[in-house]
Amino acid sequence: MNPNKASQTARFVSNGIYWVSQQPHLKREVPPELARYTAEITRRLEIDRSIFGADTARRLLLFKAKLMQVVSIPGIYLHQLIRKRYIESIASETLTKGVRQLVVIGAGFDTLSLRLSAEIPGCRVIEVDHPATQQVKRAALEEFRLPIGHCHFVPADLSEESLTSALSQSPAYDPTEATLFIAEGLTMYLDELKIRALLASIVAQNQTSKFLFTYMQEATPKRYHFQHTRPATLLWLALRNERFTWGIKPAALSEFLGDAGFRLQEHCTSEELRLRFLTEANHSAVLALGENIALASQVQTHT
Ligand SMILES: C[S@@+](CC[C@H](N)C(=O)[O-])C[C@H]1O[C@@H](n2cnc3c(N)ncnc32)[C@H](O)[C@@H]1O
Repeated sequence: MNPNKASQTARFVSNGIYWVSQQPHLKREVPPELARYTAEITRRLEIDRSIFGADTARRLLLFKAKLMQVVSIPGIYLHQLIRKRYIESIASETLTKGVRQLVVIGAGFDTLSLRLSAEIPGCRVIEVDHPATQQVKRAALEEFRLPIGHCHFVPADLSEESLTSALSQSPAYDPTEATLFIAEGLTMYLDELKIRALLASIVAQNQTSKFLFTYMQEATPKRYHFQHTRPATLLWLALRNERFTWGIKPAALSEFLGDAGFRLQEHCTSEELRLRFLTEANHSAVLALGENIALASQVQTHT
């Protein structure tokens, strides 16, 4: 990504969730707290900074978000919403079952870590992100009007630095603690070597840690795109230095994870999540396909 500019795809995701939360036929799909926190971060990132009044800025943002979806990937915002809902369900379950540390890698403008850090007392929450994106998020949080607990922020460009090295700079992080690592919408921006390095960093931590991540499905060799991606999207991503550089065939994922010391515990496609998270009225809504979610746990080694 552009080293001096916050991730544009992180803005795209956040604005997309806001857009869904404002659509009369879709807003019921957005849980109230996700809607409330997304509205607040959108206000800080987009609306307050606009040269127009709040109402005009809000309308313009919604129009821009709608247009972006039309010219990029039909159904992308709903896909991003259900991937967030699934990730939140796993995170909430894991953190109420004894895991006390959460590390969100490439957190962007997502609000999950902020909410969990405020909601679950005693849970240590750390966000690792590219410095350019994290700086903008931290500025947006300065006057945030909702509780955000004590989330710790670690800036790191993971194409230059390992996760282990980044986390070692945070006094908040405890490598001996069972941890849930989340990487939502991140792996497609790294290359295979960096993904292997990321897995190695996680394996080197507490053995009961888990890794929840999304990945692009490799449809044809070296092609990792959502189905029905409009050609302009590829140009838009390339101009922002946010091309997709990694993906894998679902059938090859278990072996890939196994080589890195993980066992694939759960796997979901968007199509599978549609029935689980969308109300019946939206079961046939257009949904972008091509990004899946996997939960991996470490293979225990006994010495
Ligand atoms: C598509 S956004 C996803 C944001 C968030 N996880 C979500 O799903 O709402 C991609 C995120 O990956 C981060 N990212 C991309 N390349 C990175 C790198 N080399 N090092 C660290 N973070 C990176 C960006 O800063 C951004 O926050």
